[in-house]
Amino acid sequence: MKEFIINNPLDMHLHLRDNDMLKLVAPLSAKTFAGALIMPNLVPPITSKEALLSYKQRIKEASNDNNFETFMTLFFKSDYTFDFLKDIKDDIIGIKLYPAGITTNSEDGVSSMDIEFLRPNLQIMSDLNIPLCVHGETNGFVMDREKEFMPTYEALAKSFPKLKIIMEHITTKEAVLLLDKYDNLYASVTLHHLLITLDDLAGDSLKPHLFCKPIAKRPRDKKALLKAALKAHPKLMFGSDSAPHPKHKKESCGCAAGVFTSPIALQVLTQLFEKHKCLDNLNTFVSLNAQKIYNIKINNKYIKLIKKDFKVPNIYEYKNENVVPMYANETLLWSIKE
Ligand code: DOR
Ligand code: ZN
Repeated sequence: MKEFIINNPLDMHLHLRDNDMLKLVAPLSAKTFAGALIMPNLVPPITSKEALLSYKQRIKEASNDNNFETFMTLFFKSDYTFDFLKDIKDDIIGIKLYPAGITTNSEDGVSSMDIEFLRPNLQIMSDLNIPLCVHGETNGFVMDREKEFMPTYEALAKSFPKLKIIMEHITTKEAVLLLDKYDNLYASVTLHHLLITLDDLAGDSLKPHLFCKPIAKRPRDKKALLKAALKAHPKLMFGSDSAPHPKHKKESCGCAAGVFTSPIALQVLTQLFEKHKCLDNLNTFVSLNAQKIYNIKINNKYIKLIKKDFKVPNIYEYKNENVVPMYANETLLWSIKE
């Protein structure tokens, strides 16, 4: 049977939540990934060293796997001091900036993306070599939010040439093009944005489990993202943005944003890269690029995939928590070898 090995797969944008949801989803990521960059948008968000280290410990306990590395992020606040950031620097891989109210649990984000307002903090981050991860959307028309944010990325890149800036979960051709324009701009891309457009979400009947922020865009955007991923563009890395919400919050009016993909991500990526005859680039896209960009070393964890049908569960459950994965009930062509 056909096999494929991925060495140290990394998920560089992951929501693990807390409590029983954490206990439900952390083992699923730990099973197929060697490590992940953990998002800080808990309620309340992670803004202190104490909260960060105790969350890291809860993830470790929940994940049932000593071989799953967690790269922690802090939630950006404009008033962090030099001393605070110097002290926490070695415990984080970056700081995640959200414009206030732009997505799930981002109410405490920044009220303004004005560079002068952000300058003191970004200068400290640049001096201390702490990467900046950004949710890059304006509050304009939903299909244009990322595109409208491009001038802000450019202003950030120009104003802080030594600051590593990661455009998180990019969804547009414009963002792909920007990667080659500034040395200090990098990006992550999700699985779902390589696969779906707005049509898949809302063209036929509404599919709440495909609703996320930023919203899936046009065919031209998907094409540009896919092209960059398939060739393992060196400034692009895999970040699932797997964002679990309980079934009742997705299948409701006022549907929560987020697609849950962590347990199917590697199988689907393998299927996708195989389909496009680019399997040779998958390891670079899903591991090596992130290691270079973030300058991280990671323990050897080989994940073996076999070309054997995998029926995706219709739901994952633990105690009172549950979550519906992307491709629920469908059959994938590749499975993880146990
Ligand atoms: O769809 C999303 N869900 N996008 C985000 O930026 C946040 C995430 C979440 O935390 O649910
Ligand atoms: Zn996210």
